[in-house]
Amino acid sequence: MEISFTGKTAVVTGGSYGIGRAMAAALAACGARVYIFDVEQTPLDFKASIVACDVTSRHSLRAAFDVSGPPDVVMINAGTGIVKPLAETDRAVWDKTIALNLTAAFETLQEASARMKPKGGAIVLTASTNSYDGEENLIAYNATKSGVLGLVHTAANELGPFGIRVNAVNPGLIRTRLTKGSFDNPAVLKDYFRAIPMGRGGEAAEVAKAAVFLASDWASYITGATLLVDGGQMCCKFGPWRDEDATFESDHWQRR
Ligand SMILES: NC(=O)c1ccc[n+]([C@@H]2O[C@H](COP(=O)([O-])OP(=O)(O)OC[C@H]3O[C@@H](n4cnc5c(N)ncnc54)[C@H](O)[C@@H]3O)[C@@H](O)[C@H]2O)c1
Repeated sequence: MEISFTGKTAVVTGGSYGIGRAMAAALAACGARVYIFDVEQTPLDFKASIVACDVTSRHSLRAAFDVSGPPDVVMINAGTGIVKPLAETDRAVWDKTIALNLTAAFETLQEASARMKPKGGAIVLTASTNSYDGEENLIAYNATKSGVLGLVHTAANELGPFGIRVNAVNPGLIRTRLTKGSFDNPAVLKDYFRAIPMGRGGEAAEVAKAAVFLASDWASYITGATLLVDGGQMCCKFGPWRDEDATFESDHWQRR
C-alpha cells in the first residue's frame, strides 16, 4: 500500500520555506491538492497554491480557509525562534514568539478542526526537541514548543470522536533559514552533532516524511503522539562522537 492523498485537500502553514515547504512538496508528491498559508510568496518547483495569510490574524486565517475549502490534512508549522538569554527576553520578544508559535497554532487548530469535523482528517503540528529540554537562550521558544504538546494532547482527546487525528513531529536541528546561523558555522556544528547518534543535522525533507506518515492512513490508529525526528539526539545524554576515533567533515561525524 502506498501513501496517497489523491482527492484530498492539504493545508500547510509556513509552507513557503524550510520544513513547511518540504511538507507541502511531499504532500503534493502524494497527490494532495496543497494550499500553503504564508506571509511570504516564493516560486515553487511543485504543484501548490500559496495563499497570502498571516496566521497570527484570525481574520487572515479564516479568509485563507475560505480559499482552500475544508481541508482533510492540516500541517500547523509556521513558527520562529528568537535567540535571547532569559535576562534579555523582553515582553516584545515573548509576545511575538507566543503569538506565532502558540496562539496562532491554537487558532489554526480551532479554525481547521471546525471545518474538518463533518468528514474527519489529520492534523500534524510542528513541535520540537525543545518541547522537552531547556536549550539556553531560547526561553520563549521552548515555552511555546512545550505548549504545543498541550495543544496536541487536548485536541487529540476532543477531536478523536470526530475522526480527526492530531499528532506532532518534533524535529531536532534541521537545515533551514531559521538555523542558517548554526549551519554556517562548522565549529558550532561539530560540537552540537557530537551528541547526535547519527552524527549530523537533519534535512527538511526528513521531517516532512515523518509528518506525511502521521497524516496518512498508515498512522490510522495514531493520535496524540509525538514523533522525534532528531537523529537520536534525545535518546542519549552525552552522545557517541569523540575525536579519538571519529572525524568531523562536511557537517557530518564519521568513524575512522
Ligand atoms: N529548523 C529547525 O531546526 C527546527 C527544529 C524544530 C522545530 N522547528 C519548527 O519548524 C517550523 C518551521 O521552521 P523552519 O525551520 O522551516 O523555519 P523557516 O523560517 O525556514 O520557515 C518558516 C516559515 O513560516 C512562515 N511564516 C512566518 N511567520 C508567519 C506568519 N505570521 N504567518 C504565516 N507564515 C509565517 C515563513 O514565511 C516561512 O515560510 C517552526 O515551527 C519551527 O519552530 C524547526
